[in-house]
Amino acid sequence: MSVMSYREAHRQSITSPEEFWGEQAALVDWFRKPRQILDSSRAPFHRWYPDGTLNTCYNALDRHVIRGGAERTALIYDSPVTGSRRTYSYAELLTEVAAFAGALQQLGVEKGDRVVVYMPMIPEAVVAMLACARIGAVHSVVFGGFAPAELAIRIDDATPKVVVSASCGIEPSRTIAYKPMLDEALRLASHAPETVIVKQRPELPADLAEERDLDWDVAMTAGRVQPAGCVEVAATDPLYVLYTSGTTGRPKGIVRDNGGHAVAMAWSFPNVYGCDAGDVWWAASDVGWVVGHSYIVYGPLISGATTVLYEGKPVGTPDAGAFWRVVSEYGVKALFTAPTAIRAIKKEDPEGRLVKEYDLSTLQTLFLAGERLDPDTWEWASEKLGVPVVDNWWQTETGWAIASNLRGLEPMEIKPGSPSVPVPGFDVRVLDGSGHEVPAGAEGAICLKLPLPPGTLTTLWGDDQRYVDSYLSAFDGYYLSGDGGHVDEDGYVYVMGRTDDVINVAGHRLSTGAMEEVISRHPAVAECAVIGVADPMKGQLPRGFVVLKSGVEADPDEIRDELVARVRAEIGAVAAFKEVVVVGGLPKTRSGKILRRTMREIADGKDVPVPSTIEDADVLDTLRPVLRQD
Ligand code: COA
Ligand code: AMP
Repeated sequence: MSVMSYREAHRQSITSPEEFWGEQAALVDWFRKPRQILDSSRAPFHRWYPDGTLNTCYNALDRHVIRGGAERTALIYDSPVTGSRRTYSYAELLTEVAAFAGALQQLGVEKGDRVVVYMPMIPEAVVAMLACARIGAVHSVVFGGFAPAELAIRIDDATPKVVVSASCGIEPSRTIAYKPMLDEALRLASHAPETVIVKQRPELPADLAEERDLDWDVAMTAGRVQPAGCVEVAATDPLYVLYTSGTTGRPKGIVRDNGGHAVAMAWSFPNVYGCDAGDVWWAASDVGWVVGHSYIVYGPLISGATTVLYEGKPVGTPDAGAFWRVVSEYGVKALFTAPTAIRAIKKEDPEGRLVKEYDLSTLQTLFLAGERLDPDTWEWASEKLGVPVVDNWWQTETGWAIASNLRGLEPMEIKPGSPSVPVPGFDVRVLDGSGHEVPAGAEGAICLKLPLPPGTLTTLWGDDQRYVDSYLSAFDGYYLSGDGGHVDEDGYVYVMGRTDDVINVAGHRLSTGAMEEVISRHPAVAECAVIGVADPMKGQLPRGFVVLKSGVEADPDEIRDELVARVRAEIGAVAAFKEVVVVGGLPKTRSGKILRRTMREIADGKDVPVPSTIEDADVLDTLRPVLRQD
């Protein structure tokens, strides 16, 4: 690739996307090189590299082995919660992946079939993902912190032939038996997978009593006899579906293709994150989230780097020095995590004493994303680590950063509070309610002018119309990000928060609508609202407000406990839903819409005027002290 400045690269990616992304296609190995770069004939469904064919697993593993990288370390597994660690060279990881891919094939999994992966942070999760990619199957990883009912919804939507899981996950406070949760999910689901493969962990083995159950090790023994080669897939074929929270209880199945994604990963890893083949890179996230897909698995491996898979927490496993231990032990060049993890460390070690106990000389950059990076956290991390702390803004939908400081392409000034500038490929525009661009500095809806670059969502699984309705119908020709904010005179983007009912709890994206659905099913509840309230540690926490049906005599404390238990059981512990208040009424517009945004702003301590559309201002006035927790 020719050497370009950020401005040139961004300009070219927007004015001549086909030229720009045509050139970047060379970062990937193709079975059949694409001759057409972008197909907009079915706009707004744009397709990248429509006539190209490739295999994503080949790009992540085989090509490095073939080109002399067989002995290079591909993956370092470090698990303070089990006291184990292991490294895999590229050749070893390839052997594991080819064997598991063979096992899947023997179970009848073919190109296009779905495989749900419900696993903790163990190497087998990465092996399962890459094995699917190898045979053209579509993986759908579900985060372990979700409850059976949420898993069931995803199983019914993805209709997998096989589910891959593990006997347990290990949280610092407890060991979580995954298999009973999976069995419960399968009891709730209408769809029945043919096979359930379970990795038995010594900490808590599972009972594999069902006929469909198969031990991971048994599957692998069969797979090793007949490992699978790479299946040629179209660039536009789906690589994975990853569910994310929308505004309703029904999650959205984000569809990622193979070709555009591989190119986006191969381009972004060196240009955005400044890392490349041979570098040790660590994304301290979870494979259940998009950061895990893109930068624990695909980005670093497609680039030939070493990726760290960490089964632990920033604090408590065993202390707030855990991240610094891993960095020093493996010589990590760049660390990527969520601001909440740094806030958790800062809370336990405000002076950064543990930072000083480790040799962090290899660390060049700390990347943070997943939620707004508050200037205090930025300042603390910058001071204690003495390296650039780089915010990057993106979403499950986009698959890679929309705005960042491009550490590999052209590092630039960092402005605290801003994830810096639009990444090449993303045409960021801030629009007002009527779809007009606002002047620099003015707030509005952050949108992306179509076409989106390679690697972004192609649609929602099985629901093209919902894709259009959710993202493309608000403003013609634009993707609606759901985030509000502004762009300053220098082109720096500022993301101020969601404009919809999605909240962000400890870097985990959750839907308040889904929580409301669970709460409304309680027989004593007449109506309810759940809002995300600012929290100094987790960024936001959900808070519920319920109005009881008239005549209900129940003790409000009891109802509160029941509601907390229900949300935990039906959505999962990760929702961190612990606060519910029983109130006399909820403020509404004259058309009956609950004024959630107004409630949220009051709860966050803002001075909010009574909206002109309100039906009964007294209800809001009565609620104000409750919202402010006076
Ligand atoms: N499987 C099962 N349960 C899980 C889980 C998993 N994979 N992950 C979290 N949970 C549970 C936790 O045990 C906890 O349960 P509890 O209510 O019984 O204590 C609950 O879900 C909430 O977990 P968490 O959000 O992790 O909160 P915490 O208070 O335990 O830890 C942090 C706080 C900040 C340390 C933690 O949230 C963290 O590391 N966040 C980083 C998030 C991240 O990497 N996001 C990815 C975007 S880059
Ligand atoms: P997810 O899809 O889980 O990655 O969550 C995406 C949402 O998280 C975005 O729409 C934002 O609301 C928020 N988010 C992610 N990264 C950032 C960031 N760097 N700054 C502000 N908000 C962010």
